Amino acid sequence: MSACLNAKVLANELVGPDVYLLRLAAGPIAAAARPGQFVMLRVAPGDEPLLARPFSVHGVEGEDVLILFQVRGRGTALLSQAAPGAKLVMWGPLGRGFELEAKRPALVAGGMGIAPLGFVARKLEDKGILFHLSSGGATQEAIEGLEKKLGTSLRGRLECRATDIHRLFHAAQEAAELSTSTAPVSGICTSTTMDGSYGEKGPVTLLLKNLLSLPPELRPDAVLACGPLPMLKAVAAMCAEKNVPCQVSLEAPMACGVGACLGCVLPAAGGGYVRVCQEGPVMDAAALDWGRIGA
Ligand SMILES: Cc1cc2nc3c(=O)[nH]c(=O)nc-3n(C[C@H](O)[C@H](O)[C@H](O)COP(=O)(O)OP(=O)(O)OC[C@H]3O[C@@H](n4cnc5c(N)ncnc54)[C@H](O)[C@@H]3O)c2cc1C
Ligand code: FES
Repeated sequence: MSACLNAKVLANELVGPDVYLLRLAAGPIAAAARPGQFVMLRVAPGDEPLLARPFSVHGVEGEDVLILFQVRGRGTALLSQAAPGAKLVMWGPLGRGFELEAKRPALVAGGMGIAPLGFVARKLEDKGILFHLSSGGATQEAIEGLEKKLGTSLRGRLECRATDIHRLFHAAQEAAELSTSTAPVSGICTSTTMDGSYGEKGPVTLLLKNLLSLPPELRPDAVLACGPLPMLKAVAAMCAEKNVPCQVSLEAPMACGVGACLGCVLPAAGGGYVRVCQEGPVMDAAALDWGRIGA
């Protein structure tokens, strides 16, 4: 059930280059939100700018909603200045989230794609499912802080490794090996950067390629991805080739967020279009016609 409310800013912390973690008091939205869903948020008090902006729910803590956002233009620049105590109009949760039924899920984050996957990671931890996170970005500065922040938000440990390993989903064995009694491992994170300053050099799909080439019994049984469209297109193709179910969290320009303006459509498999705000933002990758998506 979604709600529209005046959400009080509790904190707005710089956590990376132009990246902020915003904490808002929004009990009804926090109670209803599922990983992968989003909110529409007016970025400043008053009427300017008029259009709200869509943001994934990065997490919920009690009655607080967390949003991880990057400054891209005027709206997000204004949002970065929102001070504790300010009240912002927000409605949600909106759209469809991730299905979290897999036993060996692989999360794939391109840059700010880590925003919805943070919520996924915490939910998987609650369910006792060990996950693998492949995280990619331009530089070490762009991703290391975000990974660390995600790690500290887990109850257990996010085991970060510079390079991939080929036994990631020996789950029980691996977790037992890595765990200490005080901090069990909740997830394993490997990274890539385009400049090679952190993790492997190259796109994040390098890591996914390694995971998908594991023997079937160790291979991820689901891939949950968020990032730029070209990355999602590549991820969808790799998963289709290996017959691994793939869910993608999509971004599109959104004016209304509730299915009315058709500003957010993408081509659907079999013809026609889907509205990212209604049928998504999380969709089965096979439901999209990637050939008609000019990524
Ligand atoms: C469902 C959904 C969830 C999102 N979740 C997050 C999130 O968790 N964290 C986050 O940082 N951002 C997220 N975004 C993107 C965020 O909504 C945009 O960055 C924001 O609206 C930009 O507003 P602006 O006024 O700062 O930029 P504008 O001045 O409106 O645009 C600046 C630049 O960003 C581009 N842009 C704007 N919106 C989008 C978009 N939706 N997709 C692709 N390019 C865009 C514009 O083309 C332009 O080049 C999400 C978008 C969607 C649709
Ligand atoms: S944003 Fe208006 S229909 Fe999706």
